Amino acid sequence: MTAIDKKTLIEERVNTGLLGQWYPVAKSVEIKTTKPYGAKVLGRKLVLWRDGAGRIRCLEDFCPHRGAPLSYGEVHEGNIGCRYHGVIVDGDGVVQRVPAMPECALEGRKALESFTVTEAQDCVFVYIPSVERPEAPELVLPHELTSPEWTGFLCTSVWETNYRYALDNLADPMHGCYLHSESFTLAFGSKQDLMKLDKTDAGFRVSRVGQVGENFDWTEFEVHDGTMFCFLDIPYPPAAGPGGFMRIVGYVLPVDATTCKVFFWRLRQVEGLARESWRFLYRAQLETNHWNVLEQDRVMLEGMPDDARKREMLYQHDLGVSRIRQVLTRAAKSQIEAELAQDVAAQ
Ligand code: FES
Ligand SMILES: [Fe+2]
Repeated sequence: MTAIDKKTLIEERVNTGLLGQWYPVAKSVEIKTTKPYGAKVLGRKLVLWRDGAGRIRCLEDFCPHRGAPLSYGEVHEGNIGCRYHGVIVDGDGVVQRVPAMPECALEGRKALESFTVTEAQDCVFVYIPSVERPEAPELVLPHELTSPEWTGFLCTSVWETNYRYALDNLADPMHGCYLHSESFTLAFGSKQDLMKLDKTDAGFRVSRVGQVGENFDWTEFEVHDGTMFCFLDIPYPPAAGPGGFMRIVGYVLPVDATTCKVFFWRLRQVEGLARESWRFLYRAQLETNHWNVLEQDRVMLEGMPDDARKREMLYQHDLGVSRIRQVLTRAAKSQIEAELAQDVAAQ
């Protein structure tokens, strides 16, 4: 293999999304015991459902008989039944029954890949294995999602753009005071600044030099074995009532090369009565405001051509954008090298 081939493989891997990662795929409430759910992750079709014990199972969305989507089927006693000719497969991908054909040889065969799933904070995460990391590592979560001091809501949205644009957008605080300048919470602060990049224990932080706490002024990314997420703060203007900022914790799922799904938790560190009143206010009013801000991001990113990066001209403010791309490229390089080494070993 030439260096150019390897470079192409790395670029393709970055473009379609890293393997060896836990990805959020759906809200918990969307996965039911009654009806299968079809998801797409890194271009692969998956089916999820809950078995009799309420545990989420996940397989390739492909019937072992002739390839019909299992997600069009039904849940039968915790297993999944294909709508086309009734074949029943269990959560490990083993064919349990072929009802149309007594004593069919397919019964008992492990026919499909199954995926490790976990649930956290109203969200379902699926692990997509890699050669480097075939077994799922423990899912590291942001502390805001596990600490009782924080409360929040999960919001998801499908964007018709490559996931990298969504990550670039998160690593670019400077767009806040322009793209969102008309919004309720992001209309404040100066429109000129420099950016800086700092290394943190688990990743990096990109921030505006000249202001903190006025607008969307910084983002921090954490990169752990098998997971990557970011967080940022949106200050509340005085009109939003008592206190503090709203923290966003964000993940991006690469659905396929031209689609992604964003998962944002909007959180506040509030307890007691303030907690209940914030949750009420959020549902009554803030959710719509924040949805509008998110729509501004979606429309902008969807309007950008897929290959914009081939002719973009970055400047000082794009430190975070460059850094997140470097993180992806390094991880992709390491994955491709592990795959090539495995191929050589197998020959
Ligand atoms: S394709 Fe599923 S049972 Fe035939
Ligand atoms: Fe934005």
